[in-house]
This record gives sequence, C-alpha cells and structure tokens, in this order.
Amino acid sequence: MPVAKTSLRDSPFELNNQPAYEAWKVRKLEGYPQRAEDLIVGIDDPRDLSQAEREAILKRVEKTNMAVYRGNTGTNPDKLIPATLGAQLGLRHLDRNMGADDDGITALQVVDRQWRRRYIPYTNRPIHWHTDGYYNGFDQQIRSLLLHCVRPAGKGGENALLDHEIAYIRLRDMNPAYIKALMAPNAMTIPANIEQGTEVRPPRSGPVFSVCQDGRLHMRYTARTRSIEWKTDADTQAAVSTLKALLASQDPFIYRLGLQSGWGLISNNVLHDRSGFNDDESQARLLYRLRYFDRINQ
Ligand SMILES: [Fe+2]
Repeated sequence: MPVAKTSLRDSPFELNNQPAYEAWKVRKLEGYPQRAEDLIVGIDDPRDLSQAEREAILKRVEKTNMAVYRGNTGTNPDKLIPATLGAQLGLRHLDRNMGADDDGITALQVVDRQWRRRYIPYTNRPIHWHTDGYYNGFDQQIRSLLLHCVRPAGKGGENALLDHEIAYIRLRDMNPAYIKALMAPNAMTIPANIEQGTEVRPPRSGPVFSVCQDGRLHMRYTARTRSIEWKTDADTQAAVSTLKALLASQDPFIYRLGLQSGWGLISNNVLHDRSGFNDDESQARLLYRLRYFDRINQ
C-alpha cells in the first residue's frame, strides 16, 4: 500500500514536533522483538510465496524494517530465487552498481583477482557497520537490500543488524542536537573515488538521517574512518561518537545471526555489519546481494 506523502511539519522526524515523535515511538517500540529468531519466517519456495508467507514477511518488515526468510532452495545458485522474491515484495528497481553482474545482482564471494580484490566485500575480512550505498548520489539512494545465502562460510560471516529507526530513537532521546547535526546536508562527505587516475565517483556530501518523499526515515552511514570526512563541529563529532558507541553496545535490539543455505535477509537498508570468515576447503561462502531504489511494499 503506498504511503501518503507527509510534510516534514507533521512528521515524527521533525524535531519541533515532539508529540508526533512520542506517539510514533510508542507505536514503534510496542512489542518490538528482542531476539534475532523473531525475525525468521519459514517459507517453502521463495519464488512462489503464499499469501500467508508474504504477509508474515511484511509484518516483520513493518515492525523492524527487516525479516529473514528460511526457504527450501538450499544451495541452488539460481539468481532468479532472490530476484523473484524481491519482485513479490514490490522491489523492481535494482541498482546496477559497479560490481554487480549485468542482471544487477552481485555475487559476494572471495575473489582473488581483478579490481574487486581491493574492496572488502569481496574478501573474507570483517565489514564495519554501514548502510548500503551511502556513497550514492542523493537521487540514487538504496531504500532496500536483499541478501540471499547460497552457501555460508565454514566459520564466521554472520551479520549484526540494527533497525535505523531504533538508532534514530536512541540518539534523539539522548540529545536532539545529535539528530539536528546528523540531518545537516553536509554532515558527512565521501571523497572522490579515483581509480588509476580516473574519477569514478565525484566527492559527495549528504546527511546521515533524511526523510524521504513518502515520509519514511532514511539513513546513510559508514563506521569507516578512512574515505569519510565528518563535519568538524562539536555536535556532529559528539553525534558520530555516540552512534559508534551505540553500535558497539549490547543494545537488546542489535540482532546477530548467520544466514544458512536458502535463507535470506530482506530489509529497508538497515544498519548492518559482517564478521570476518573462513571458507571451508570444500565450500566457499556465496551470497547474492540485491540493492533496490524501492522500499519494501507495505
Ligand atoms: Fe552492506
């Protein structure tokens, strides 16, 4: 169901509208799941969801901006599995980013050759907290992310997950000035990406938190300390270190789980990280990543 346009004035994300924020927060936190297992929905074939399966996934997404499906396709490497699932949830516009194959789907696995080796997603190293596509232009923001697991790593490779709306609540309740700072259009700047003397991406500045046309909260973030420049004023610096501390904390709403073969994570691009991993001799980790410009249908 399309969401009605909301002007920022009526929005819970408007700092001057504390009653709207408090009302939204009460609804948001009511019955909020405390265990990663609560995100999991057992389904049969992700390519052909029943109405009940689809509704069960959407119900979790509505509450936490994410859900994990446990499908029956095992190690079947067909890319149509996640693509067809995404389409059933209203996801159609894939970001054909550098690294994606022609179909817009990225195979995340350890790659020893090519340029990919220089990018952490294609290694077995840990990936710090981030939202996907934080470096994209503002008109090309990633609203949702689907990760489908064909083969898990022998050891490691789990994800930690935090709903970006919970991150917003934590920061605003600590100090609304943090939110103000992180909504500034120049809060973070990603320097240009230069590949062998050619500018692949110009420098980009933008906010961490923003409100989309549909009234929903969007977040751009990376915990990387290189290739990112934060605004140097005191509020921004304090907000960034508070957010970093939150992500390193034992907050009960930070979930940790490892996707198994045939499982997948569907999310409105929530905050996530990935632990380092080791592949077995016989089995190399393979995940498909699909980034969309659409938000999950609700
Ligand atoms: Fe990611």
